[in-house]
Amino acid sequence: MTATSRPVIGVFDSGVGGLTVLRELLRQVPQADYLYFGDTARLPYGSKSVETVAKYAISAAEFLVKQGAQHLVIACNTATALAFDRIASAVRVPALGVIEPGAEIASTASKTRKAVVIATEGTCNSHAYQKALAARGIEAREKPCPLFVPLVEEGWIEHEVTERVAHIYLDEIFAGEFADADALVLGCTHYPLLKPLLRRVVPERVTIVDSAEATANAMAQRLGALDPSGEPSVKFFATDSVEKFRKAGEKFMGWKITDVAHVDIES
Ligand code: DGL
Repeated sequence: MTATSRPVIGVFDSGVGGLTVLRELLRQVPQADYLYFGDTARLPYGSKSVETVAKYAISAAEFLVKQGAQHLVIACNTATALAFDRIASAVRVPALGVIEPGAEIASTASKTRKAVVIATEGTCNSHAYQKALAARGIEAREKPCPLFVPLVEEGWIEHEVTERVAHIYLDEIFAGEFADADALVLGCTHYPLLKPLLRRVVPERVTIVDSAEATANAMAQRLGALDPSGEPSVKFFATDSVEKFRKAGEKFMGWKITDVAHVDIES
């Protein structure tokens, strides 16, 4: 049976990085309308404490629900890793994070049952991916790659400096006990944009697992058959400058962002 009304999905991230998840959602679930919240005034989350990330993420989730979100996607890996349960129990709509879907796809892809996870400092320190993968019989090595976020935001997606940095981070990872690891989990919103570059850096046998793609796929499964008529609408909210969000966001989406509203979450 096909649902008749379009669901409203709220997507939350610390900034523009979560647009990689929104982009995938629009591709895989175009039968929904979207509200996207980028907490640009308070980013980065990747280097902040559990308490701070939980507080910020809960206020953003509550805001999206007030705006009419019927489902919540926590696109931020750090917020999912550090505070998924707290965010999910603070709102009365179903929440989906990026870690379980990413771990599930890695589990399908890995034959050697060994994976490497790259993410922010906060996500790695929480070991959320390691735990989700261990629950699926996969041993994981986690590697924080904090420089990737500013490099992507600078637009250095195909750049010799980024490639050099990737080699420094990753060359020694697929070695020793993990020489036979066959999956690389992209555990941060920004990393999917580096997929072509990372493809050249990691061994050929390694499958690159994109948590953004996996999460959109999980949402498509969750929602089931939807009314295929109509076009998706997207409304954006940012806690810092609307103009800055628009400019940075366009690099991620590849199209013009128009409908951005400023939100003062503290008030
Ligand atoms: N969105 C964050 C994540 O996926 C990366 C940027 C930040 O540190 O806020 O972990």
